[in-house]
Amino acid sequence: MKRVDDFRLRFGNNEYVPIMVGGMGVDISTSELALETARLGGIGHISDAMVEDVSDRRFDTSFVKDKTKLYKFNINNSDKSVVQFDLERLAEAQRLHIGKTMEAKQGPGLIFVNCMEKLTMNGPRETLRTRLNAALDAGIDGITLSAGLHFGSFALMADHPRFREAKLGIIVSSVRALQIFLRKNAKLDRLPDFIIVEGPLAGGHLGFGMDWADYDLMTITRELLAYLKTENLDIPLIAAGGIFTGSDAVSFLEAGAAGVQVATRFTITNECGLPAKVKQEYIRATEDDIIVNGVSPTGYPMRMLKSTPAIGAGIRPGCESYGYLLDATGNCAYINSYNREVAAHPELKVVSVMDKTCLCTHMRNFNCWTCGHYTYRLKDTTHKKADGEYQLLTAEHVFKDYQFSVDNQIALPEKEG
Ligand SMILES: Cc1cc2nc3c(=O)[nH]c(=O)nc-3n(C[C@H](O)[C@H](O)[C@H](O)COP(=O)(O)O)c2cc1C
Repeated sequence: MKRVDDFRLRFGNNEYVPIMVGGMGVDISTSELALETARLGGIGHISDAMVEDVSDRRFDTSFVKDKTKLYKFNINNSDKSVVQFDLERLAEAQRLHIGKTMEAKQGPGLIFVNCMEKLTMNGPRETLRTRLNAALDAGIDGITLSAGLHFGSFALMADHPRFREAKLGIIVSSVRALQIFLRKNAKLDRLPDFIIVEGPLAGGHLGFGMDWADYDLMTITRELLAYLKTENLDIPLIAAGGIFTGSDAVSFLEAGAAGVQVATRFTITNECGLPAKVKQEYIRATEDDIIVNGVSPTGYPMRMLKSTPAIGAGIRPGCESYGYLLDATGNCAYINSYNREVAAHPELKVVSVMDKTCLCTHMRNFNCWTCGHYTYRLKDTTHKKADGEYQLLTAEHVFKDYQFSVDNQIALPEKEG
């Protein structure tokens, strides 16, 4: 019986343990988690979601405070088009977050950054160009393009000296999305170094509609492998979404995937950025507590715990401080929903907004508990302590369990105390 460690993910002449730990914004997949993954020979991800805020918390910068001060005059205005990111400052935050992570890297693995196109930041092209190029400046090993079709993203970094050296890849959920990406980028003569196929059981935003349950990762993986073969494209395909045990991973590696990307099992590790209380919520969750809904202003369905404080919370839009989801015209679906409720209930001091959520503020405060489908199985991966809380794990424990387990077994950690 094979185990994940019998396989290797190859980039050129280099080999890695074929386990990627996926990007989880906002700072849920921390530098610490990515560094541990790289130390153990796999590929870790940090995320550049709300990077100015992440920098403020980690490096004592004041990007958010300064931006809030600058745009304070606009807080009661529903037109947010004036709220622009200063590209110099954005690049500085990105270089800090990524540069400090890369400086600390040890071991044989790699660290990539997850860059979501849906963070349109009131200037989709220029802000994405800034983020991508600053990531390359800061020495990131690779970039994973996510949450979007990324038709123009390669072109945005084509002039960077590291464009052909860094590992660049994209997350897709269908053959069609990959075909379009390849067609749109054909003239650059630069193929992606890896492709991640993410199925409908993943955490975060889904690349499917509300009919997500009709799709299945193994089927889409096989379709993508067949497509790559027909096109004679030798690009490693990484499968993601709902791979919960080492044996699950082996089934994808045996089917021809070059690696797997996993995330949910790492949400209850010490290195994960979620607050300790939220980690306990994840472990306690039952299958019925996990839903896929449309509250994200991005328009993509998102999976989360039903009890997440973000649902229904009618807070004032926080765009003057954050504004990561403002589209090219300075709008966000939450602003419309919020204004509608305020107009409908002028007598209320605090309104409730059910259809959309202020994702920036809630993600920043760890109040949007997005999670993978199998979050309800996390309780089977650890011990319940005498006080009713669950023991957290180390990233090393979870990584090695994926790497070495057989027979769908899950290794429990040594009991604390
Ligand atoms: C809490 C959480 C947050 C996530 N955030 C992001 C994100 O910001 N960007 C992204 O591309 N994927 C995100 N994902 C998806 C993961 O990177 C990964 O591909 C997927 O969850 C793997 O499936 P698994 O969680 O079942 O192992 C997130 C997943 C989780 C669990």
